[in-house]
Amino acid sequence: MKVLVIHGPNLNLLGKREKGIYGRKSLKEINNEILSLASELRIKVGTAQLNSEGEILDVIQKGDYDVLIINPAAYTHTSVAILDAIAAVDKPAIEVHLSNIHKREDFRRKSFIAGVAVGQISGFGSESYLLALRAAKNIRSRK
Ligand code: DQA
Repeated sequence: MKVLVIHGPNLNLLGKREKGIYGRKSLKEINNEILSLASELRIKVGTAQLNSEGEILDVIQKGDYDVLIINPAAYTHTSVAILDAIAAVDKPAIEVHLSNIHKREDFRRKSFIAGVAVGQISGFGSESYLLALRAAKNIRSRK
């Protein structure tokens, strides 16, 4: 089984960006934690950080994964295009957020991705990705 983890816009700045909200770990440290759990769980994992919506769509459409773990970052709250791409590819997707998007500004409560995701993991910091990886291991089908 191959899992692809997509980190959306501005997540390359983790460790420097709003540390009180997103934590002190860099994206590299988080990716290392993901890779180390993946080898423990015997799952193949690829990671990508993409700032532009079009690049995210290209990687989703390529479909080179069995399960998608995605932190769409700000596109969570705006992107019908990412919603449509996930629906089109018809592979299970897990939505991840470091912060709890439901207890922040009102505009962050709305996720366009949630309706096409198997589930959403939000608010556990970098641990959110690790919980998603454990969930990915057990996913059989999307619906
Ligand atoms: C985020 C939450 C989003 O609202 C925000 O735009 C991000 C990061 C998170 O991981 O908590 O960039 O997806």
